[in-house]
Amino acid sequence: MSFAADWLTLREPADRAARDRGLVDKFARRVAANAAPLIIDIGCGTGSTLRSLSGDVGSVTEWLLLDNDPLLLEEAARLCGAGEPVTFRQHDLNDLGELPLDNAAMVTASALFDLCSEAFARAFAETLADRSVGLYAALNYDGRIEWTLPHPADDAILAAFNRHQQTDKGFGVALGPAATGRLATLFGGHGFQVETAISPWQLSRRDKALQKAFIEGFRQPLLEIGEPVDIEDWIAFRLAAIDRPDSHCTVGHVDLLALPA
Ligand SMILES: C[S@@+](CC[C@H](N)C(=O)[O-])C[C@H]1O[C@@H](n2cnc3c(N)ncnc32)[C@H](O)[C@@H]1O
Repeated sequence: MSFAADWLTLREPADRAARDRGLVDKFARRVAANAAPLIIDIGCGTGSTLRSLSGDVGSVTEWLLLDNDPLLLEEAARLCGAGEPVTFRQHDLNDLGELPLDNAAMVTASALFDLCSEAFARAFAETLADRSVGLYAALNYDGRIEWTLPHPADDAILAAFNRHQQTDKGFGVALGPAATGRLATLFGGHGFQVETAISPWQLSRRDKALQKAFIEGFRQPLLEIGEPVDIEDWIAFRLAAIDRPDSHCTVGHVDLLALPA
């Protein structure tokens, strides 16, 4: 599955505001406990995770950013190359055996694990446990979307959207909203100390461009899943509501921190 750099740019401020502060602080303390820490950000996109966290981790921290999309890596290099000790590498996460974990203090990921399958999450937890490397996986979609202004098709559309979230996104059948729970169980099973915290987007008319792209982003999944609802009517209603001061949208995410004992 490919992602547009424009979409990742639009969501970056909302992601940054949504991250749970307590887990970021614990992540940063764990990184600081390493003399020469290396953070490996998987599914890095245009480098949003690095930009969000670089102020929290020490300046001696090195970053290795991995993605399978060369265009996103190019954009990441353009946006975060200067002044950061960072390396960019094309890497398909399905080649888990090749994950370059040498000297890694922590692995980070944002908005990634809801795309991944149960088999991938299981193998990934085993891989990190073998190397005693921790994981900070933020902004995993949790299946909850709430609107202050109701539309009669909201429930049917959310259910269909969530079913689409559990189709194959390049790793086999995706975990979708179940991702954080499965990661918590799998890493906990390897003796990691696991903490989770909610990190919802809180969208108002100030987030007009993101809301517009988010709402229009329902069209393709709804058509693909074949839900018999009038998606164009729902999209028109939602777009028209964006500018209303009483219109607010909450999109549920969960952050996870898993630290080896
Ligand atoms: C929703 S985007 C999140 C990007 C970035 N972490 C952020 O928060 O803006 C998911 C990212 O995972 C990458 N990705 C998807 N499948 C991948 C795979 N098999 N190997 C490596 N990266 C992958 C995509 O190219 C994309 O950059």
